[in-house]
Amino acid sequence: MHTEGDMPAKHLLIVDDEPVILQILKAVFEDEPIRLSCVGTGADAKQIIDEQGCDLLITDKNLPDINGLELLRLAKEKNPFSEAIIITGYASLETALTAMEYDAFDYVVKPLNNVFDIRKKVQQAIDKQDLALENQRLLTSLKDRNRELQDALDEARALQAELIQSEKLAGIGTLAAGVAHEVSSPLFGIMGLAEAIGDGEDAETAARYAKDIVGYCQGIREIVVELSSYSRTSEIDGVSEVELKKTAEDAVRLIRRSASTEGVEFVLDIDEGTQVLARPNEIQQVLVNLLKNGAEAVLDEHGVTGGAQVHVRAGRKVDHAWLVVSDNGVGIPEDRRGVVFDPFYTTKPPGKGTGLGLNVVYRIVTKYRGTVQVESTEGQGTTFHIRFPDAV
Ligand SMILES: Nc1ncnc2c1ncn2[C@@H]1O[C@H](COP(=O)(O)OP(=O)(O)OP(=O)(O)O)[C@@H](O)[C@H]1O
Ligand SMILES: [Mg+2]
Repeated sequence: MHTEGDMPAKHLLIVDDEPVILQILKAVFEDEPIRLSCVGTGADAKQIIDEQGCDLLITDKNLPDINGLELLRLAKEKNPFSEAIIITGYASLETALTAMEYDAFDYVVKPLNNVFDIRKKVQQAIDKQDLALENQRLLTSLKDRNRELQDALDEARALQAELIQSEKLAGIGTLAAGVAHEVSSPLFGIMGLAEAIGDGEDAETAARYAKDIVGYCQGIREIVVELSSYSRTSEIDGVSEVELKKTAEDAVRLIRRSASTEGVEFVLDIDEGTQVLARPNEIQQVLVNLLKNGAEAVLDEHGVTGGAQVHVRAGRKVDHAWLVVSDNGVGIPEDRRGVVFDPFYTTKPPGKGTGLGLNVVYRIVTKYRGTVQVESTEGQGTTFHIRFPDAV
C-alpha cells in the first residue's frame, strides 16, 4: 500500500464486534505504512473519532451499540475528507443504496472471503482521498493567487486613475496654452489692421480692413467655442471644402501683418482647386504655423540680407490632397527631428515661442486622419510634407 511521500501516515479505524473479523482485518493492514486502530464497540470507535478523527473507517454496519452508519456520519463530520467502507451481512440493492446515501466509499459482504479485495478497496479510498486533498490544496492556492491578482488589479486601477487624472491635467494645460497660441495669431492681425485704420487709411481700405477684422474675430470665436468641445476623436462638424490656395494667401497676409517678415519671400505654388474637406479655420492654423516657423528659420539663416525663401506647394493625388512647406532656413538637427511636434518643444527665446505651433499642426492634421512628416538638412533648410486623405 502506498501513501503520499511526506504526508503523515493515514489513520485507519476498524470497528467490528466479531473478534475474528477484527483479527483478520488487523492482520491485513498490520504491516502497512498506516496508523491502525482496531476496536470492538461503537462506543470505543466514537471516542476515537471524537478525539482523533480518522482518515479511513472500516466498520460493521450492525454494531450492537451504535449503528455503523452513524459512525460514518460522525467520522465525516470530524473530517470531511474521511472515507469509509461498510461491512454488511448481506449484499442487496438496499445495502448499496444506503452506502451511497451515507457517502460510503464502498461496502464488503461478510464473510470476508477475499481480504485482498478489502485491501484494494482501502487503497482506492486512499487514492480518492489524496486526490480530493490535492484538489483542495490547489483550490486554496488558486484562491490565494486570485486574491493576490485582485489586489494587484486594484492597485493597477488606482494607479491608472491617478495617471488619467494627471494626463488630463497635463492635457488641459496643453489645450489652454494651445488655444492661447491659436488666438494670438488672429489677434496680431486685428492689431495690425486696427493700427492701420487708426493711422488714417482711406475710407475704402478702412472698410476692407474692418471686414478682415470681423473675419479674424469670427476665427477667434470659433476657437473659443471649440475649447469647450475640442477632442481629437470627436465628430468633425462644421467642415467644408477648404481651398488651399486662398487659405495659404490669407495665411501669408496674416503673417506679414502680425510678424516681422521683412526680407522673407513667400512663394505659393498651389494648383487651383486643391481642396481639403475640413474646418477652414484649422487649415489656416496649419498654414500659419508652418509659414511662421519657416519665416523664423530663414530669417535666422539669412537675416534680412536676402535669399530667404519659404515655399508652399499643394496639389491633389487620386485619394488625397498634399501640402508641402519648405524653407531654406537653419534646418533642424537630426536628433531633434523626432521632438519638434512635442508640445512645448522650442528653441526660441522665452516670450518668442511657446513650442506649440507644430503640436497644433500635428493635432489638426491627425484629426483629419492625415500625416505630417519633416525632412531637414542643417544649414540648408526644412520641408514639411502633409497629406490629407479623402474621406472614405
Ligand atoms: N521650418 C523650421 N526650420 C527650423 N526649425 C524649425 C522649423 N519649424 C520648427 N522648427 C523647430 O521646432 C521648434 C518647435 O516649433 P513650434 O512651431 O512647435 O514652436 P515654436 O515655433 O518654437 O513656438 P511657437 O510656434 O509657439 O511660436 C522650433 O522652436 C524650432 O526649433
Ligand atoms: Mg512655431
